[in-house]
Amino acid sequence: MQKKILITGGAGFIGSHVVRLFVNKYPDYHVFNLDKLTYAGNLENLRDIENKPNYSFIKADIQDGELMLKLFTLHQFDAVIHLAAESHVDRSIANPLEFVLTNVVGTVNLLNAAKYIWNDKYEGKRFYHVSTDEVYGSLGPTGYFTEETPYDPHSPYSASKASSDHFVRAYHDTYGLPTVISNCSNNYGSYQFPEKLIPLFINNIRYNKPLPVYGKGENVRDWLWVEDHARAIDIIFHKAANGSTYNIGGHNEWKNIDLIKVLCKIMDKKLGRPEGTSEKLITFVKDRAGHDLRYAIDSSKLQRELGWEPSVTFEEGLEKTVDWYLANQEWLDHVTSGDYQKYYEEQYIHR
Ligand code: NAD
Ligand code: TYD
Repeated sequence: MQKKILITGGAGFIGSHVVRLFVNKYPDYHVFNLDKLTYAGNLENLRDIENKPNYSFIKADIQDGELMLKLFTLHQFDAVIHLAAESHVDRSIANPLEFVLTNVVGTVNLLNAAKYIWNDKYEGKRFYHVSTDEVYGSLGPTGYFTEETPYDPHSPYSASKASSDHFVRAYHDTYGLPTVISNCSNNYGSYQFPEKLIPLFINNIRYNKPLPVYGKGENVRDWLWVEDHARAIDIIFHKAANGSTYNIGGHNEWKNIDLIKVLCKIMDKKLGRPEGTSEKLITFVKDRAGHDLRYAIDSSKLQRELGWEPSVTFEEGLEKTVDWYLANQEWLDHVTSGDYQKYYEEQYIHR
């Protein structure tokens, strides 16, 4: 019988890459994409696979526990890959409660629904929770996050993700639910909503708008190409032991300001503008409250135990990403209208 896989948040950035990979690679799975379609969810991200026979879309809110029970009972999912979340740190500072409701309550609703329908019969079942390295807090100039690093979240976003990770582990330890967690570093690539650094800056350069660099631009992030994250999720989903955790990252640390300068150079080249044009748009603005200084992931457990490694260098990935946004300017224009514009004004115009 066809295996039924529920992917939550599949209309978002990373989720759409995971849905695409699973639908194309596993015709013997039926992939159900459950998504509320918030400002960050966009079915345009999945146009190329939406008519495949092994794909279905369900518009639903994971905050609704009763609905989750009904849907799990109706479809009898064999596995869950849970990506649905509120994912932007700045929005979490403006509205923490929505992060608790989706990221914490929503995750517990899914755990309850899985526990209910699987009813202690866990053979062949899997609950995979996709999380972030931000749960580990902030590093000084040296060291890496390992799977043993104690949790120390600072933003409402990372606190809500840390809490959801704890619930997933608690359902494994208490009820034996067959769970797996991965914690990944910053992703970049196609279909990322242009509120996050890289697509926001590509979009602003396109329109000669200022590039708002928080603080002095000294914060460090460890960037991974989104398709390499999706490949890691595929490998972990199929190979990891129940109850395990894997860190995912590309050993690719960049100080924000250095990354932005590289991005500006690539954009000047691609847009045929004189070198230095985009850099002039850099504008230093007030720092983010509680801004974590540095994230850096040690993903050696994943590389050693499950044989994953990144497939592209940062230079290749960034160039592919810029090419994609420039070839898909209609997509950018669609997602930068409406609700996003209001939010943008609150974040940047009245900052
Ligand atoms: P995203 O914001 O692009 O997408 C989130 C998706 O979840 C959207 O499609 C949205 O409509 C959906 N959603 C939100 N609330 C919902 C609800 N209540 N019910 C159902 N659907 C809902 O996020 P992303 O960047 O793709 O991140 C996906 C997951 O990966 C998140 O759990 C995030 O914490 C994690 N993660 C992200 C990064 C990153 O760099 N973006 C890194 C590590 C981990
Ligand atoms: P972001 O893409 O929001 O990811 P996260 O906060 O989850 O790491 O931000 C990446 C880095 O870029 C972070 O240090 C904040 C900084 N940043 C800016 O300087 N300006 C911006 O407009 C944004 C969105 C982020």
